[in-house]
Amino acid sequence: MAYTAKDYGNLIGMEGFSETLLKNHFTLYQGYVTNTNKVMDTLSEMAKGGKIGTPEYAELKRRLGWEFNGMRLHELYFENLGGKGSFEKAGKLSKKISEDFGSFEAWEKEFRTIGMMRGIGWAILYQDPVTGRLINFWINEHDGGHPAGCNPILILDVFEHAFMIDYGLKRADYIEAFFKNINWKAVEGRLR
Ligand SMILES: [Fe+2]
Repeated sequence: MAYTAKDYGNLIGMEGFSETLLKNHFTLYQGYVTNTNKVMDTLSEMAKGGKIGTPEYAELKRRLGWEFNGMRLHELYFENLGGKGSFEKAGKLSKKISEDFGSFEAWEKEFRTIGMMRGIGWAILYQDPVTGRLINFWINEHDGGHPAGCNPILILDVFEHAFMIDYGLKRADYIEAFFKNINWKAVEGRLR
């Protein structure tokens, strides 16, 4: 079954994110959905045609994780935006963050700093289902560095397309705007 791009038009009007930037970002996301479908269809056709084991199949198979994660991570990113950034300090997420990082402030500082790392990719707060522990990760591009089996809780896109239209090279200002628009209710809902 083919994947369908979701509509995140509700995010237009978010403070600190221009309509131009968001519309460009939605178009880019739709490209990942289209390409995920294309890659999966082509791989399936190649398998039916007995082409498993060819270099062409292997290269496309390598590509699948990149396209698929480009699709899914954007969905998780857009879905953890659109809030007013107000955080329920007495909630279960706050309690868990404080337990695992010492304080909410310590976690936030670390997460923002990871988002500032040079290169393109994502800062992701993951929960390890084996121990329940929350861990911040840097993901290179879309596919490098994901912890196997862990659950993504909060996703920050730090590819240049996510901020350059509005902020140029000022990534920290974009991260500030991101924090003002986090939908904490959605984020907390991902906690297990
Ligand atoms: Fe993006």
